[in-house]
Amino acid sequence: MENYKEKVNTLLLVCTLVATVTFAASYTVPGGYNSSDTDLGIATMLRDKGFHMFVFCDSIAMYSSVIAAVALIWAQLGDLTLVIIALKLAMPLFGVALSMMSMAFIAGLFLTVNKLPWLGIAVLEMGITFLAMLLVILIPLCIPYTPSNGIYRYISYYVIYLVILATGN
Ligand SMILES: *[C@@H]1O[C@H](CO)[C@@H](O)[C@H](O)[C@H]1NC(C)=O
Repeated sequence: MENYKEKVNTLLLVCTLVATVTFAASYTVPGGYNSSDTDLGIATMLRDKGFHMFVFCDSIAMYSSVIAAVALIWAQLGDLTLVIIALKLAMPLFGVALSMMSMAFIAGLFLTVNKLPWLGIAVLEMGITFLAMLLVILIPLCIPYTPSNGIYRYISYYVIYLVILATGN
């Protein structure tokens, strides 16, 4: 129980942070807003495909982190069954929120720098490399943990092995 408490509180903190930044990003969109009379307040990059991706990723990240946060608040009531159900719901949503937030970041940054082709490509390459690394360590974390789950043990063994290999220990 003590073990779960720490986990619930940490997750709640991170989910709140993700909800905060994605909410703020929706009001400071890349490219800013038009200030002419007819189109006052309309995003200037409205017709850009990258902007559409930014909007979708940002919304999904915001909604899933809010739902995860509410589920984790239920978990704080202290009932063990409730904690386990809430974690099962919150962990995948947390993974979705983090990866969608990263994708919104990549899309937004790419939008603003892609007039300079090499910089745009660099942003995309760094972003894709980072996303791949993130998914490798995030997916095993988000699979519902049951000690008897052979797959879990199998995957986490290789993830830890890769991390050790990468850090050269
Ligand atoms: C703002 O809207 C006006 C009217 O639709 C348009 O002519 C102008 O190009 C827009 N400005 C920007 C920066 O998108």
